Amino acid sequence: MTENTQILFKSRPTGWVDASHFEVAKGPVREPGPGEVQVRNIFMSLDPYMRGRMRDQKSYTPGFELGQVLQAGAVGEVTASNDPSLAKGDLVEGRLGWETYSVAKAGQVNKVDGNVASLSHYLGVLGMPSMTAWVGLRNIGQPKTGETVYVSAASGAVGQIAGQIAKLQGCHVAGSAGSDDKVAYVRDELGFDAAFNYKTAVSLGDGLAQACPNGIDVYFENVGGAMLDAVLLKLNPYARIVACGMISQYNLERPEGVRNLGTMVGNKIRMQGFIVSDHMDLKAAFMAEMSGWLAAGKVKYREDITQGIENAPAAFIGMLKGENFGKQIIQIGDPPA
Ligand SMILES: NC(=O)c1ccc[n+]([C@@H]2O[C@H](COP(=O)([O-])OP(=O)(O)OC[C@H]3O[C@@H](n4cnc5c(N)ncnc54)[C@H](OP(=O)(O)O)[C@@H]3O)[C@@H](O)[C@H]2O)c1
Repeated sequence: MTENTQILFKSRPTGWVDASHFEVAKGPVREPGPGEVQVRNIFMSLDPYMRGRMRDQKSYTPGFELGQVLQAGAVGEVTASNDPSLAKGDLVEGRLGWETYSVAKAGQVNKVDGNVASLSHYLGVLGMPSMTAWVGLRNIGQPKTGETVYVSAASGAVGQIAGQIAKLQGCHVAGSAGSDDKVAYVRDELGFDAAFNYKTAVSLGDGLAQACPNGIDVYFENVGGAMLDAVLLKLNPYARIVACGMISQYNLERPEGVRNLGTMVGNKIRMQGFIVSDHMDLKAAFMAEMSGWLAAGKVKYREDITQGIENAPAAFIGMLKGENFGKQIIQIGDPPA
């Protein structure tokens, strides 16, 4: 019988998440029931929103249940099917588990084309994080040619795409990241016009002033806290803040205060949050445009792939601390030959 390795949600963190909040369990792989498929997971996505699902509070996604396998976006191969819509050998992506094999309702997964450079792309450049950047800029940021777009967490899964889309639209694009290597990547490889290391800059205000000499028209917000406060002082009239995420606050029991919101009034600033999963009607348009950019070499994408499901907890904690360089993915198994 094939063995399943699973990562269970053992206890609820207060403050920083650590290894004690996870448990590795081993057991038999379940056979699919009526209307279900069994999937051998190949790549799994680790995302910052998962920290929110570890909280015991109402949110836009249900919280993880204690003692249960953690959930994640994943790509895998159907190994058994009890539904006519999918057959053994089909490649699928969907909300599956932190585990080597998942069993899911057939309708919970989507068939994907194996004809891509790597199946991991469905979790990054052709998946949720990239679509987040695309939707946030399209619906909220709406950058115009010549405007300045500033992206925090710029080398990450969402940030690297947000900056490159803004470049394709003829904007002055600036970014910040937490290491000199990440800064060099966004500036020298992705073509951002300017970038700075927010950890070593004289101050956030100084880093922003140097990277955005004409002020900021669109802020693609991934970080929150002190960064948001500093950006508020650099925004131009009618600037837009795309409130995508605020990762600096996710492990804090008491979120930091933001003091400079008053500047929004006189500068007529608009700030709007969004959740990418509310915009699935745009998925086909996103896939068509992003696949085209990727094929034409107009967009590059860096992934940070950690091997082995048992290393997922450490990689997740590392991502929240900024140890990932690019989209954090776990490789669970080999892609089909
Ligand atoms: N609204 C939506 O639908 C949606 C969907 C997906 C993601 N998001 C949000 O988008 C943001 C980026 O997500 P992602 O998947 O692209 O993750 P990511 O950027 O690939 O990884 C997280 C990065 O955040 C940075 N970070 C961590 N703590 C920080 C802090 N205190 N201050 C500044 N930066 C910090 C780290 O990079 P550095 O080394 O640069 O610090 C880390 O590598 C998150 O806020 C996430 O919640 C929103």
